[in-house]
Formats: sequence, structure tokens, C-alpha cells
Amino acid sequence: MTSSGCRPEASGSLAPRSTADGSFSLFSERFNEGFHSSSGAYGEALAKFVAPAQLERFSPGSRLRVVDVCVGLGYNSAALIEAAAPRGLTLEWVGLELDPRPLALALAAPSFRSLWQHDTLQVLEQLGDQGRWQGRHGRGRWWIGDARRTLPLLASELNGACDLVLHDAFSPGHCPELWSLEFLAGLGALLKPDGRLLTYCAAAAVRKGLQLAGLQLASIGGSAEQPRQRRWCQGTAASPDPLPTSPTGVLRPLSPMEQEHLATRAAEPYRDPDGRADALAIAAARQEAQRHSSAGSTSAWRRRWGLEGTT
Ligand SMILES: C[S@@+](CC[C@H](N)C(=O)[O-])C[C@H]1O[C@@H](n2cnc3c(N)ncnc32)[C@H](O)[C@@H]1O
Repeated sequence: MTSSGCRPEASGSLAPRSTADGSFSLFSERFNEGFHSSSGAYGEALAKFVAPAQLERFSPGSRLRVVDVCVGLGYNSAALIEAAAPRGLTLEWVGLELDPRPLALALAAPSFRSLWQHDTLQVLEQLGDQGRWQGRHGRGRWWIGDARRTLPLLASELNGACDLVLHDAFSPGHCPELWSLEFLAGLGALLKPDGRLLTYCAAAAVRKGLQLAGLQLASIGGSAEQPRQRRWCQGTAASPDPLPTSPTGVLRPLSPMEQEHLATRAAEPYRDPDGRADALAIAAARQEAQRHSSAGSTSAWRRRWGLEGTT
């Protein structure tokens, strides 16, 4: 599949980068952003995607339907496969990705290959070579193209049928096209009532978009007590049904600080009604909507919660 998105496909250089846990990552010149936080690509996959999936919810022998949005180097799905296998779980997997090069570059890096078991590497190799994989871990295929074009192709088969959607696009500031209200609603429609969309992103605009798409929210990990240390949250989980949260668990209820954030101008969602706008147009339309918004000031919210000077 190719797309007619406004940005050229699979363009720009990809520079290798090592993250703090020693795992291999990349920096995208085109999106001007790293693929993973500097703290560690592998650790991020475990903390932000595998742990909040709570695979212990599923009985052995279950086949989970999973959509990986922005497959990239494949960390999230590879880590999920390795956590699922000892529990007797297999995957019915679909990946959405614009650019096949990150996976190929990762598979050429010894430090990436050494992280994974032999048959996980086989899954990634089959995917890279043939665009699909099949084996003891289940089966899957990916769609290469703008996810705004490829997501609708999944609707007839997968709407209301997915256990997990892993959403790992570049950040909203760099890739707003994959965080629009419309795109998030399309991802939300894939979920079973107790299915989960998991993302590292905790931006108010994204959380608000998920809420407007009818999903219930929880924070992933972190500690609501430590806002200034920027450890208050590792991401967001969203589901049609309320999520099982606990104040110290992997899924936390949104704290009063996080809830107030959703009433500020920062929570103005990104919009892309026909799924074709480019990043600049989406950002400009949001800024314009913020200018006319009667929502509370985000700087006042930051002052109230002692967040000045943090990002
Ligand atoms: C942060 S990286 C993903 C990291 C990945 N999940 C991993 O585990 O390595 C973002 C990915 O989004 C892809 N991407 C960017 N724009 C896209 C689009 N419009 N549709 C689909 N994929 C896109 C990039 O090619 C890149 O691989």
C-alpha cells in the first residue's frame, strides 16, 4: 500500500542512537525526533506497553488481537511476543508503519538482535522480508503507508475485536497527524469493550481526544506525588470500559492535577477531519482553536501544580 499523504513517504535520514539501557534506537531527520526516549528503547517497551497490557488477564491458549501503530524497530511487538509466549498466549497481529527502513536497520544491528530470542527474531525477519509472519507465536502482517490511509482498511475485520492497540507515533508536536481526534477515534473503534489502547503519550490534547472518542482513561505507572521530577506518569491507557486502576498499580486513576489539565487550553485536540492535512496545517488549526477557547490557562495550571520549568 502506498499513500497520498502530504509528506513524502519513507524519506529523510535515520541515524543510529544508543539509549541509556544500551538498546539500539534511531533518530529521524524528517520528524526531527528520536524513536525512543533516551532512557532506553527496550525498557520503554516493557514499562509503557507490555506492563500495562496486563497479560495475566488472559487465559492460557488465548489468541490476542493486537494492532501496533508505528511498528518502527519492532520493540513493542517483540517485547509483547516474548511476554505472551510463557503465558501460552499467541497473537493475531497487524502493524501499521510508513517506513520499513527502521526495522531493517534494527535487524542489522548486533545490539538489537542480541536482545531477542531466536524465534522472535524470526518473526521480525519474516516481517521485514515478506511483510507477514507466521509461527508458534501466531501470525501477522503489516501495512506500509500512511496509517491514516491504512487504518480504515482494518475496520471491517477488526472493529470491536482488538485486545490491544499499541500507539507509538512520534510526539504530537512532531507528528500531529497521528494524534488527531479523528485518528484516535478510529483506533478506539478497533477495541473490544475491555480492549486497551496504550501509549507513552500523556499530552492533554491526546487524552482529551481519547475521551471525546468515548474512551475511559487511566495513567500508566509513575507517581502522582512527584510531578516536578516528571515521573508523574509514563503514558496513557484508554478503553471503552472503565479500566481497573489502583493508586499504586500499573494503571492509576488520573490525579486531580491530570484531570485539571484536561480543562485547560492544552487539551484542545488536534483535528484532521478528512485525514489528509499536513502537520503544519493541523498545528495551525489547533492554535487558532486555542485562541478562541474559553478553557482555563495552561500556565496558571502549571503554576498551581508547581510545574514551571518542567516540560
Ligand atoms: C516513535 S517511532 C516508533 C517506535 C516503535 N514503536 C518501536 O518500537 O521501535 C514512530 C514511527 O512512526 C512511523 N510513522 C511516522 N508517520 C507515520 C504515518 N503517517 N503512518 C504510519 N507510520 C508513521 C515512523 O516511520 C516511525 O517508525
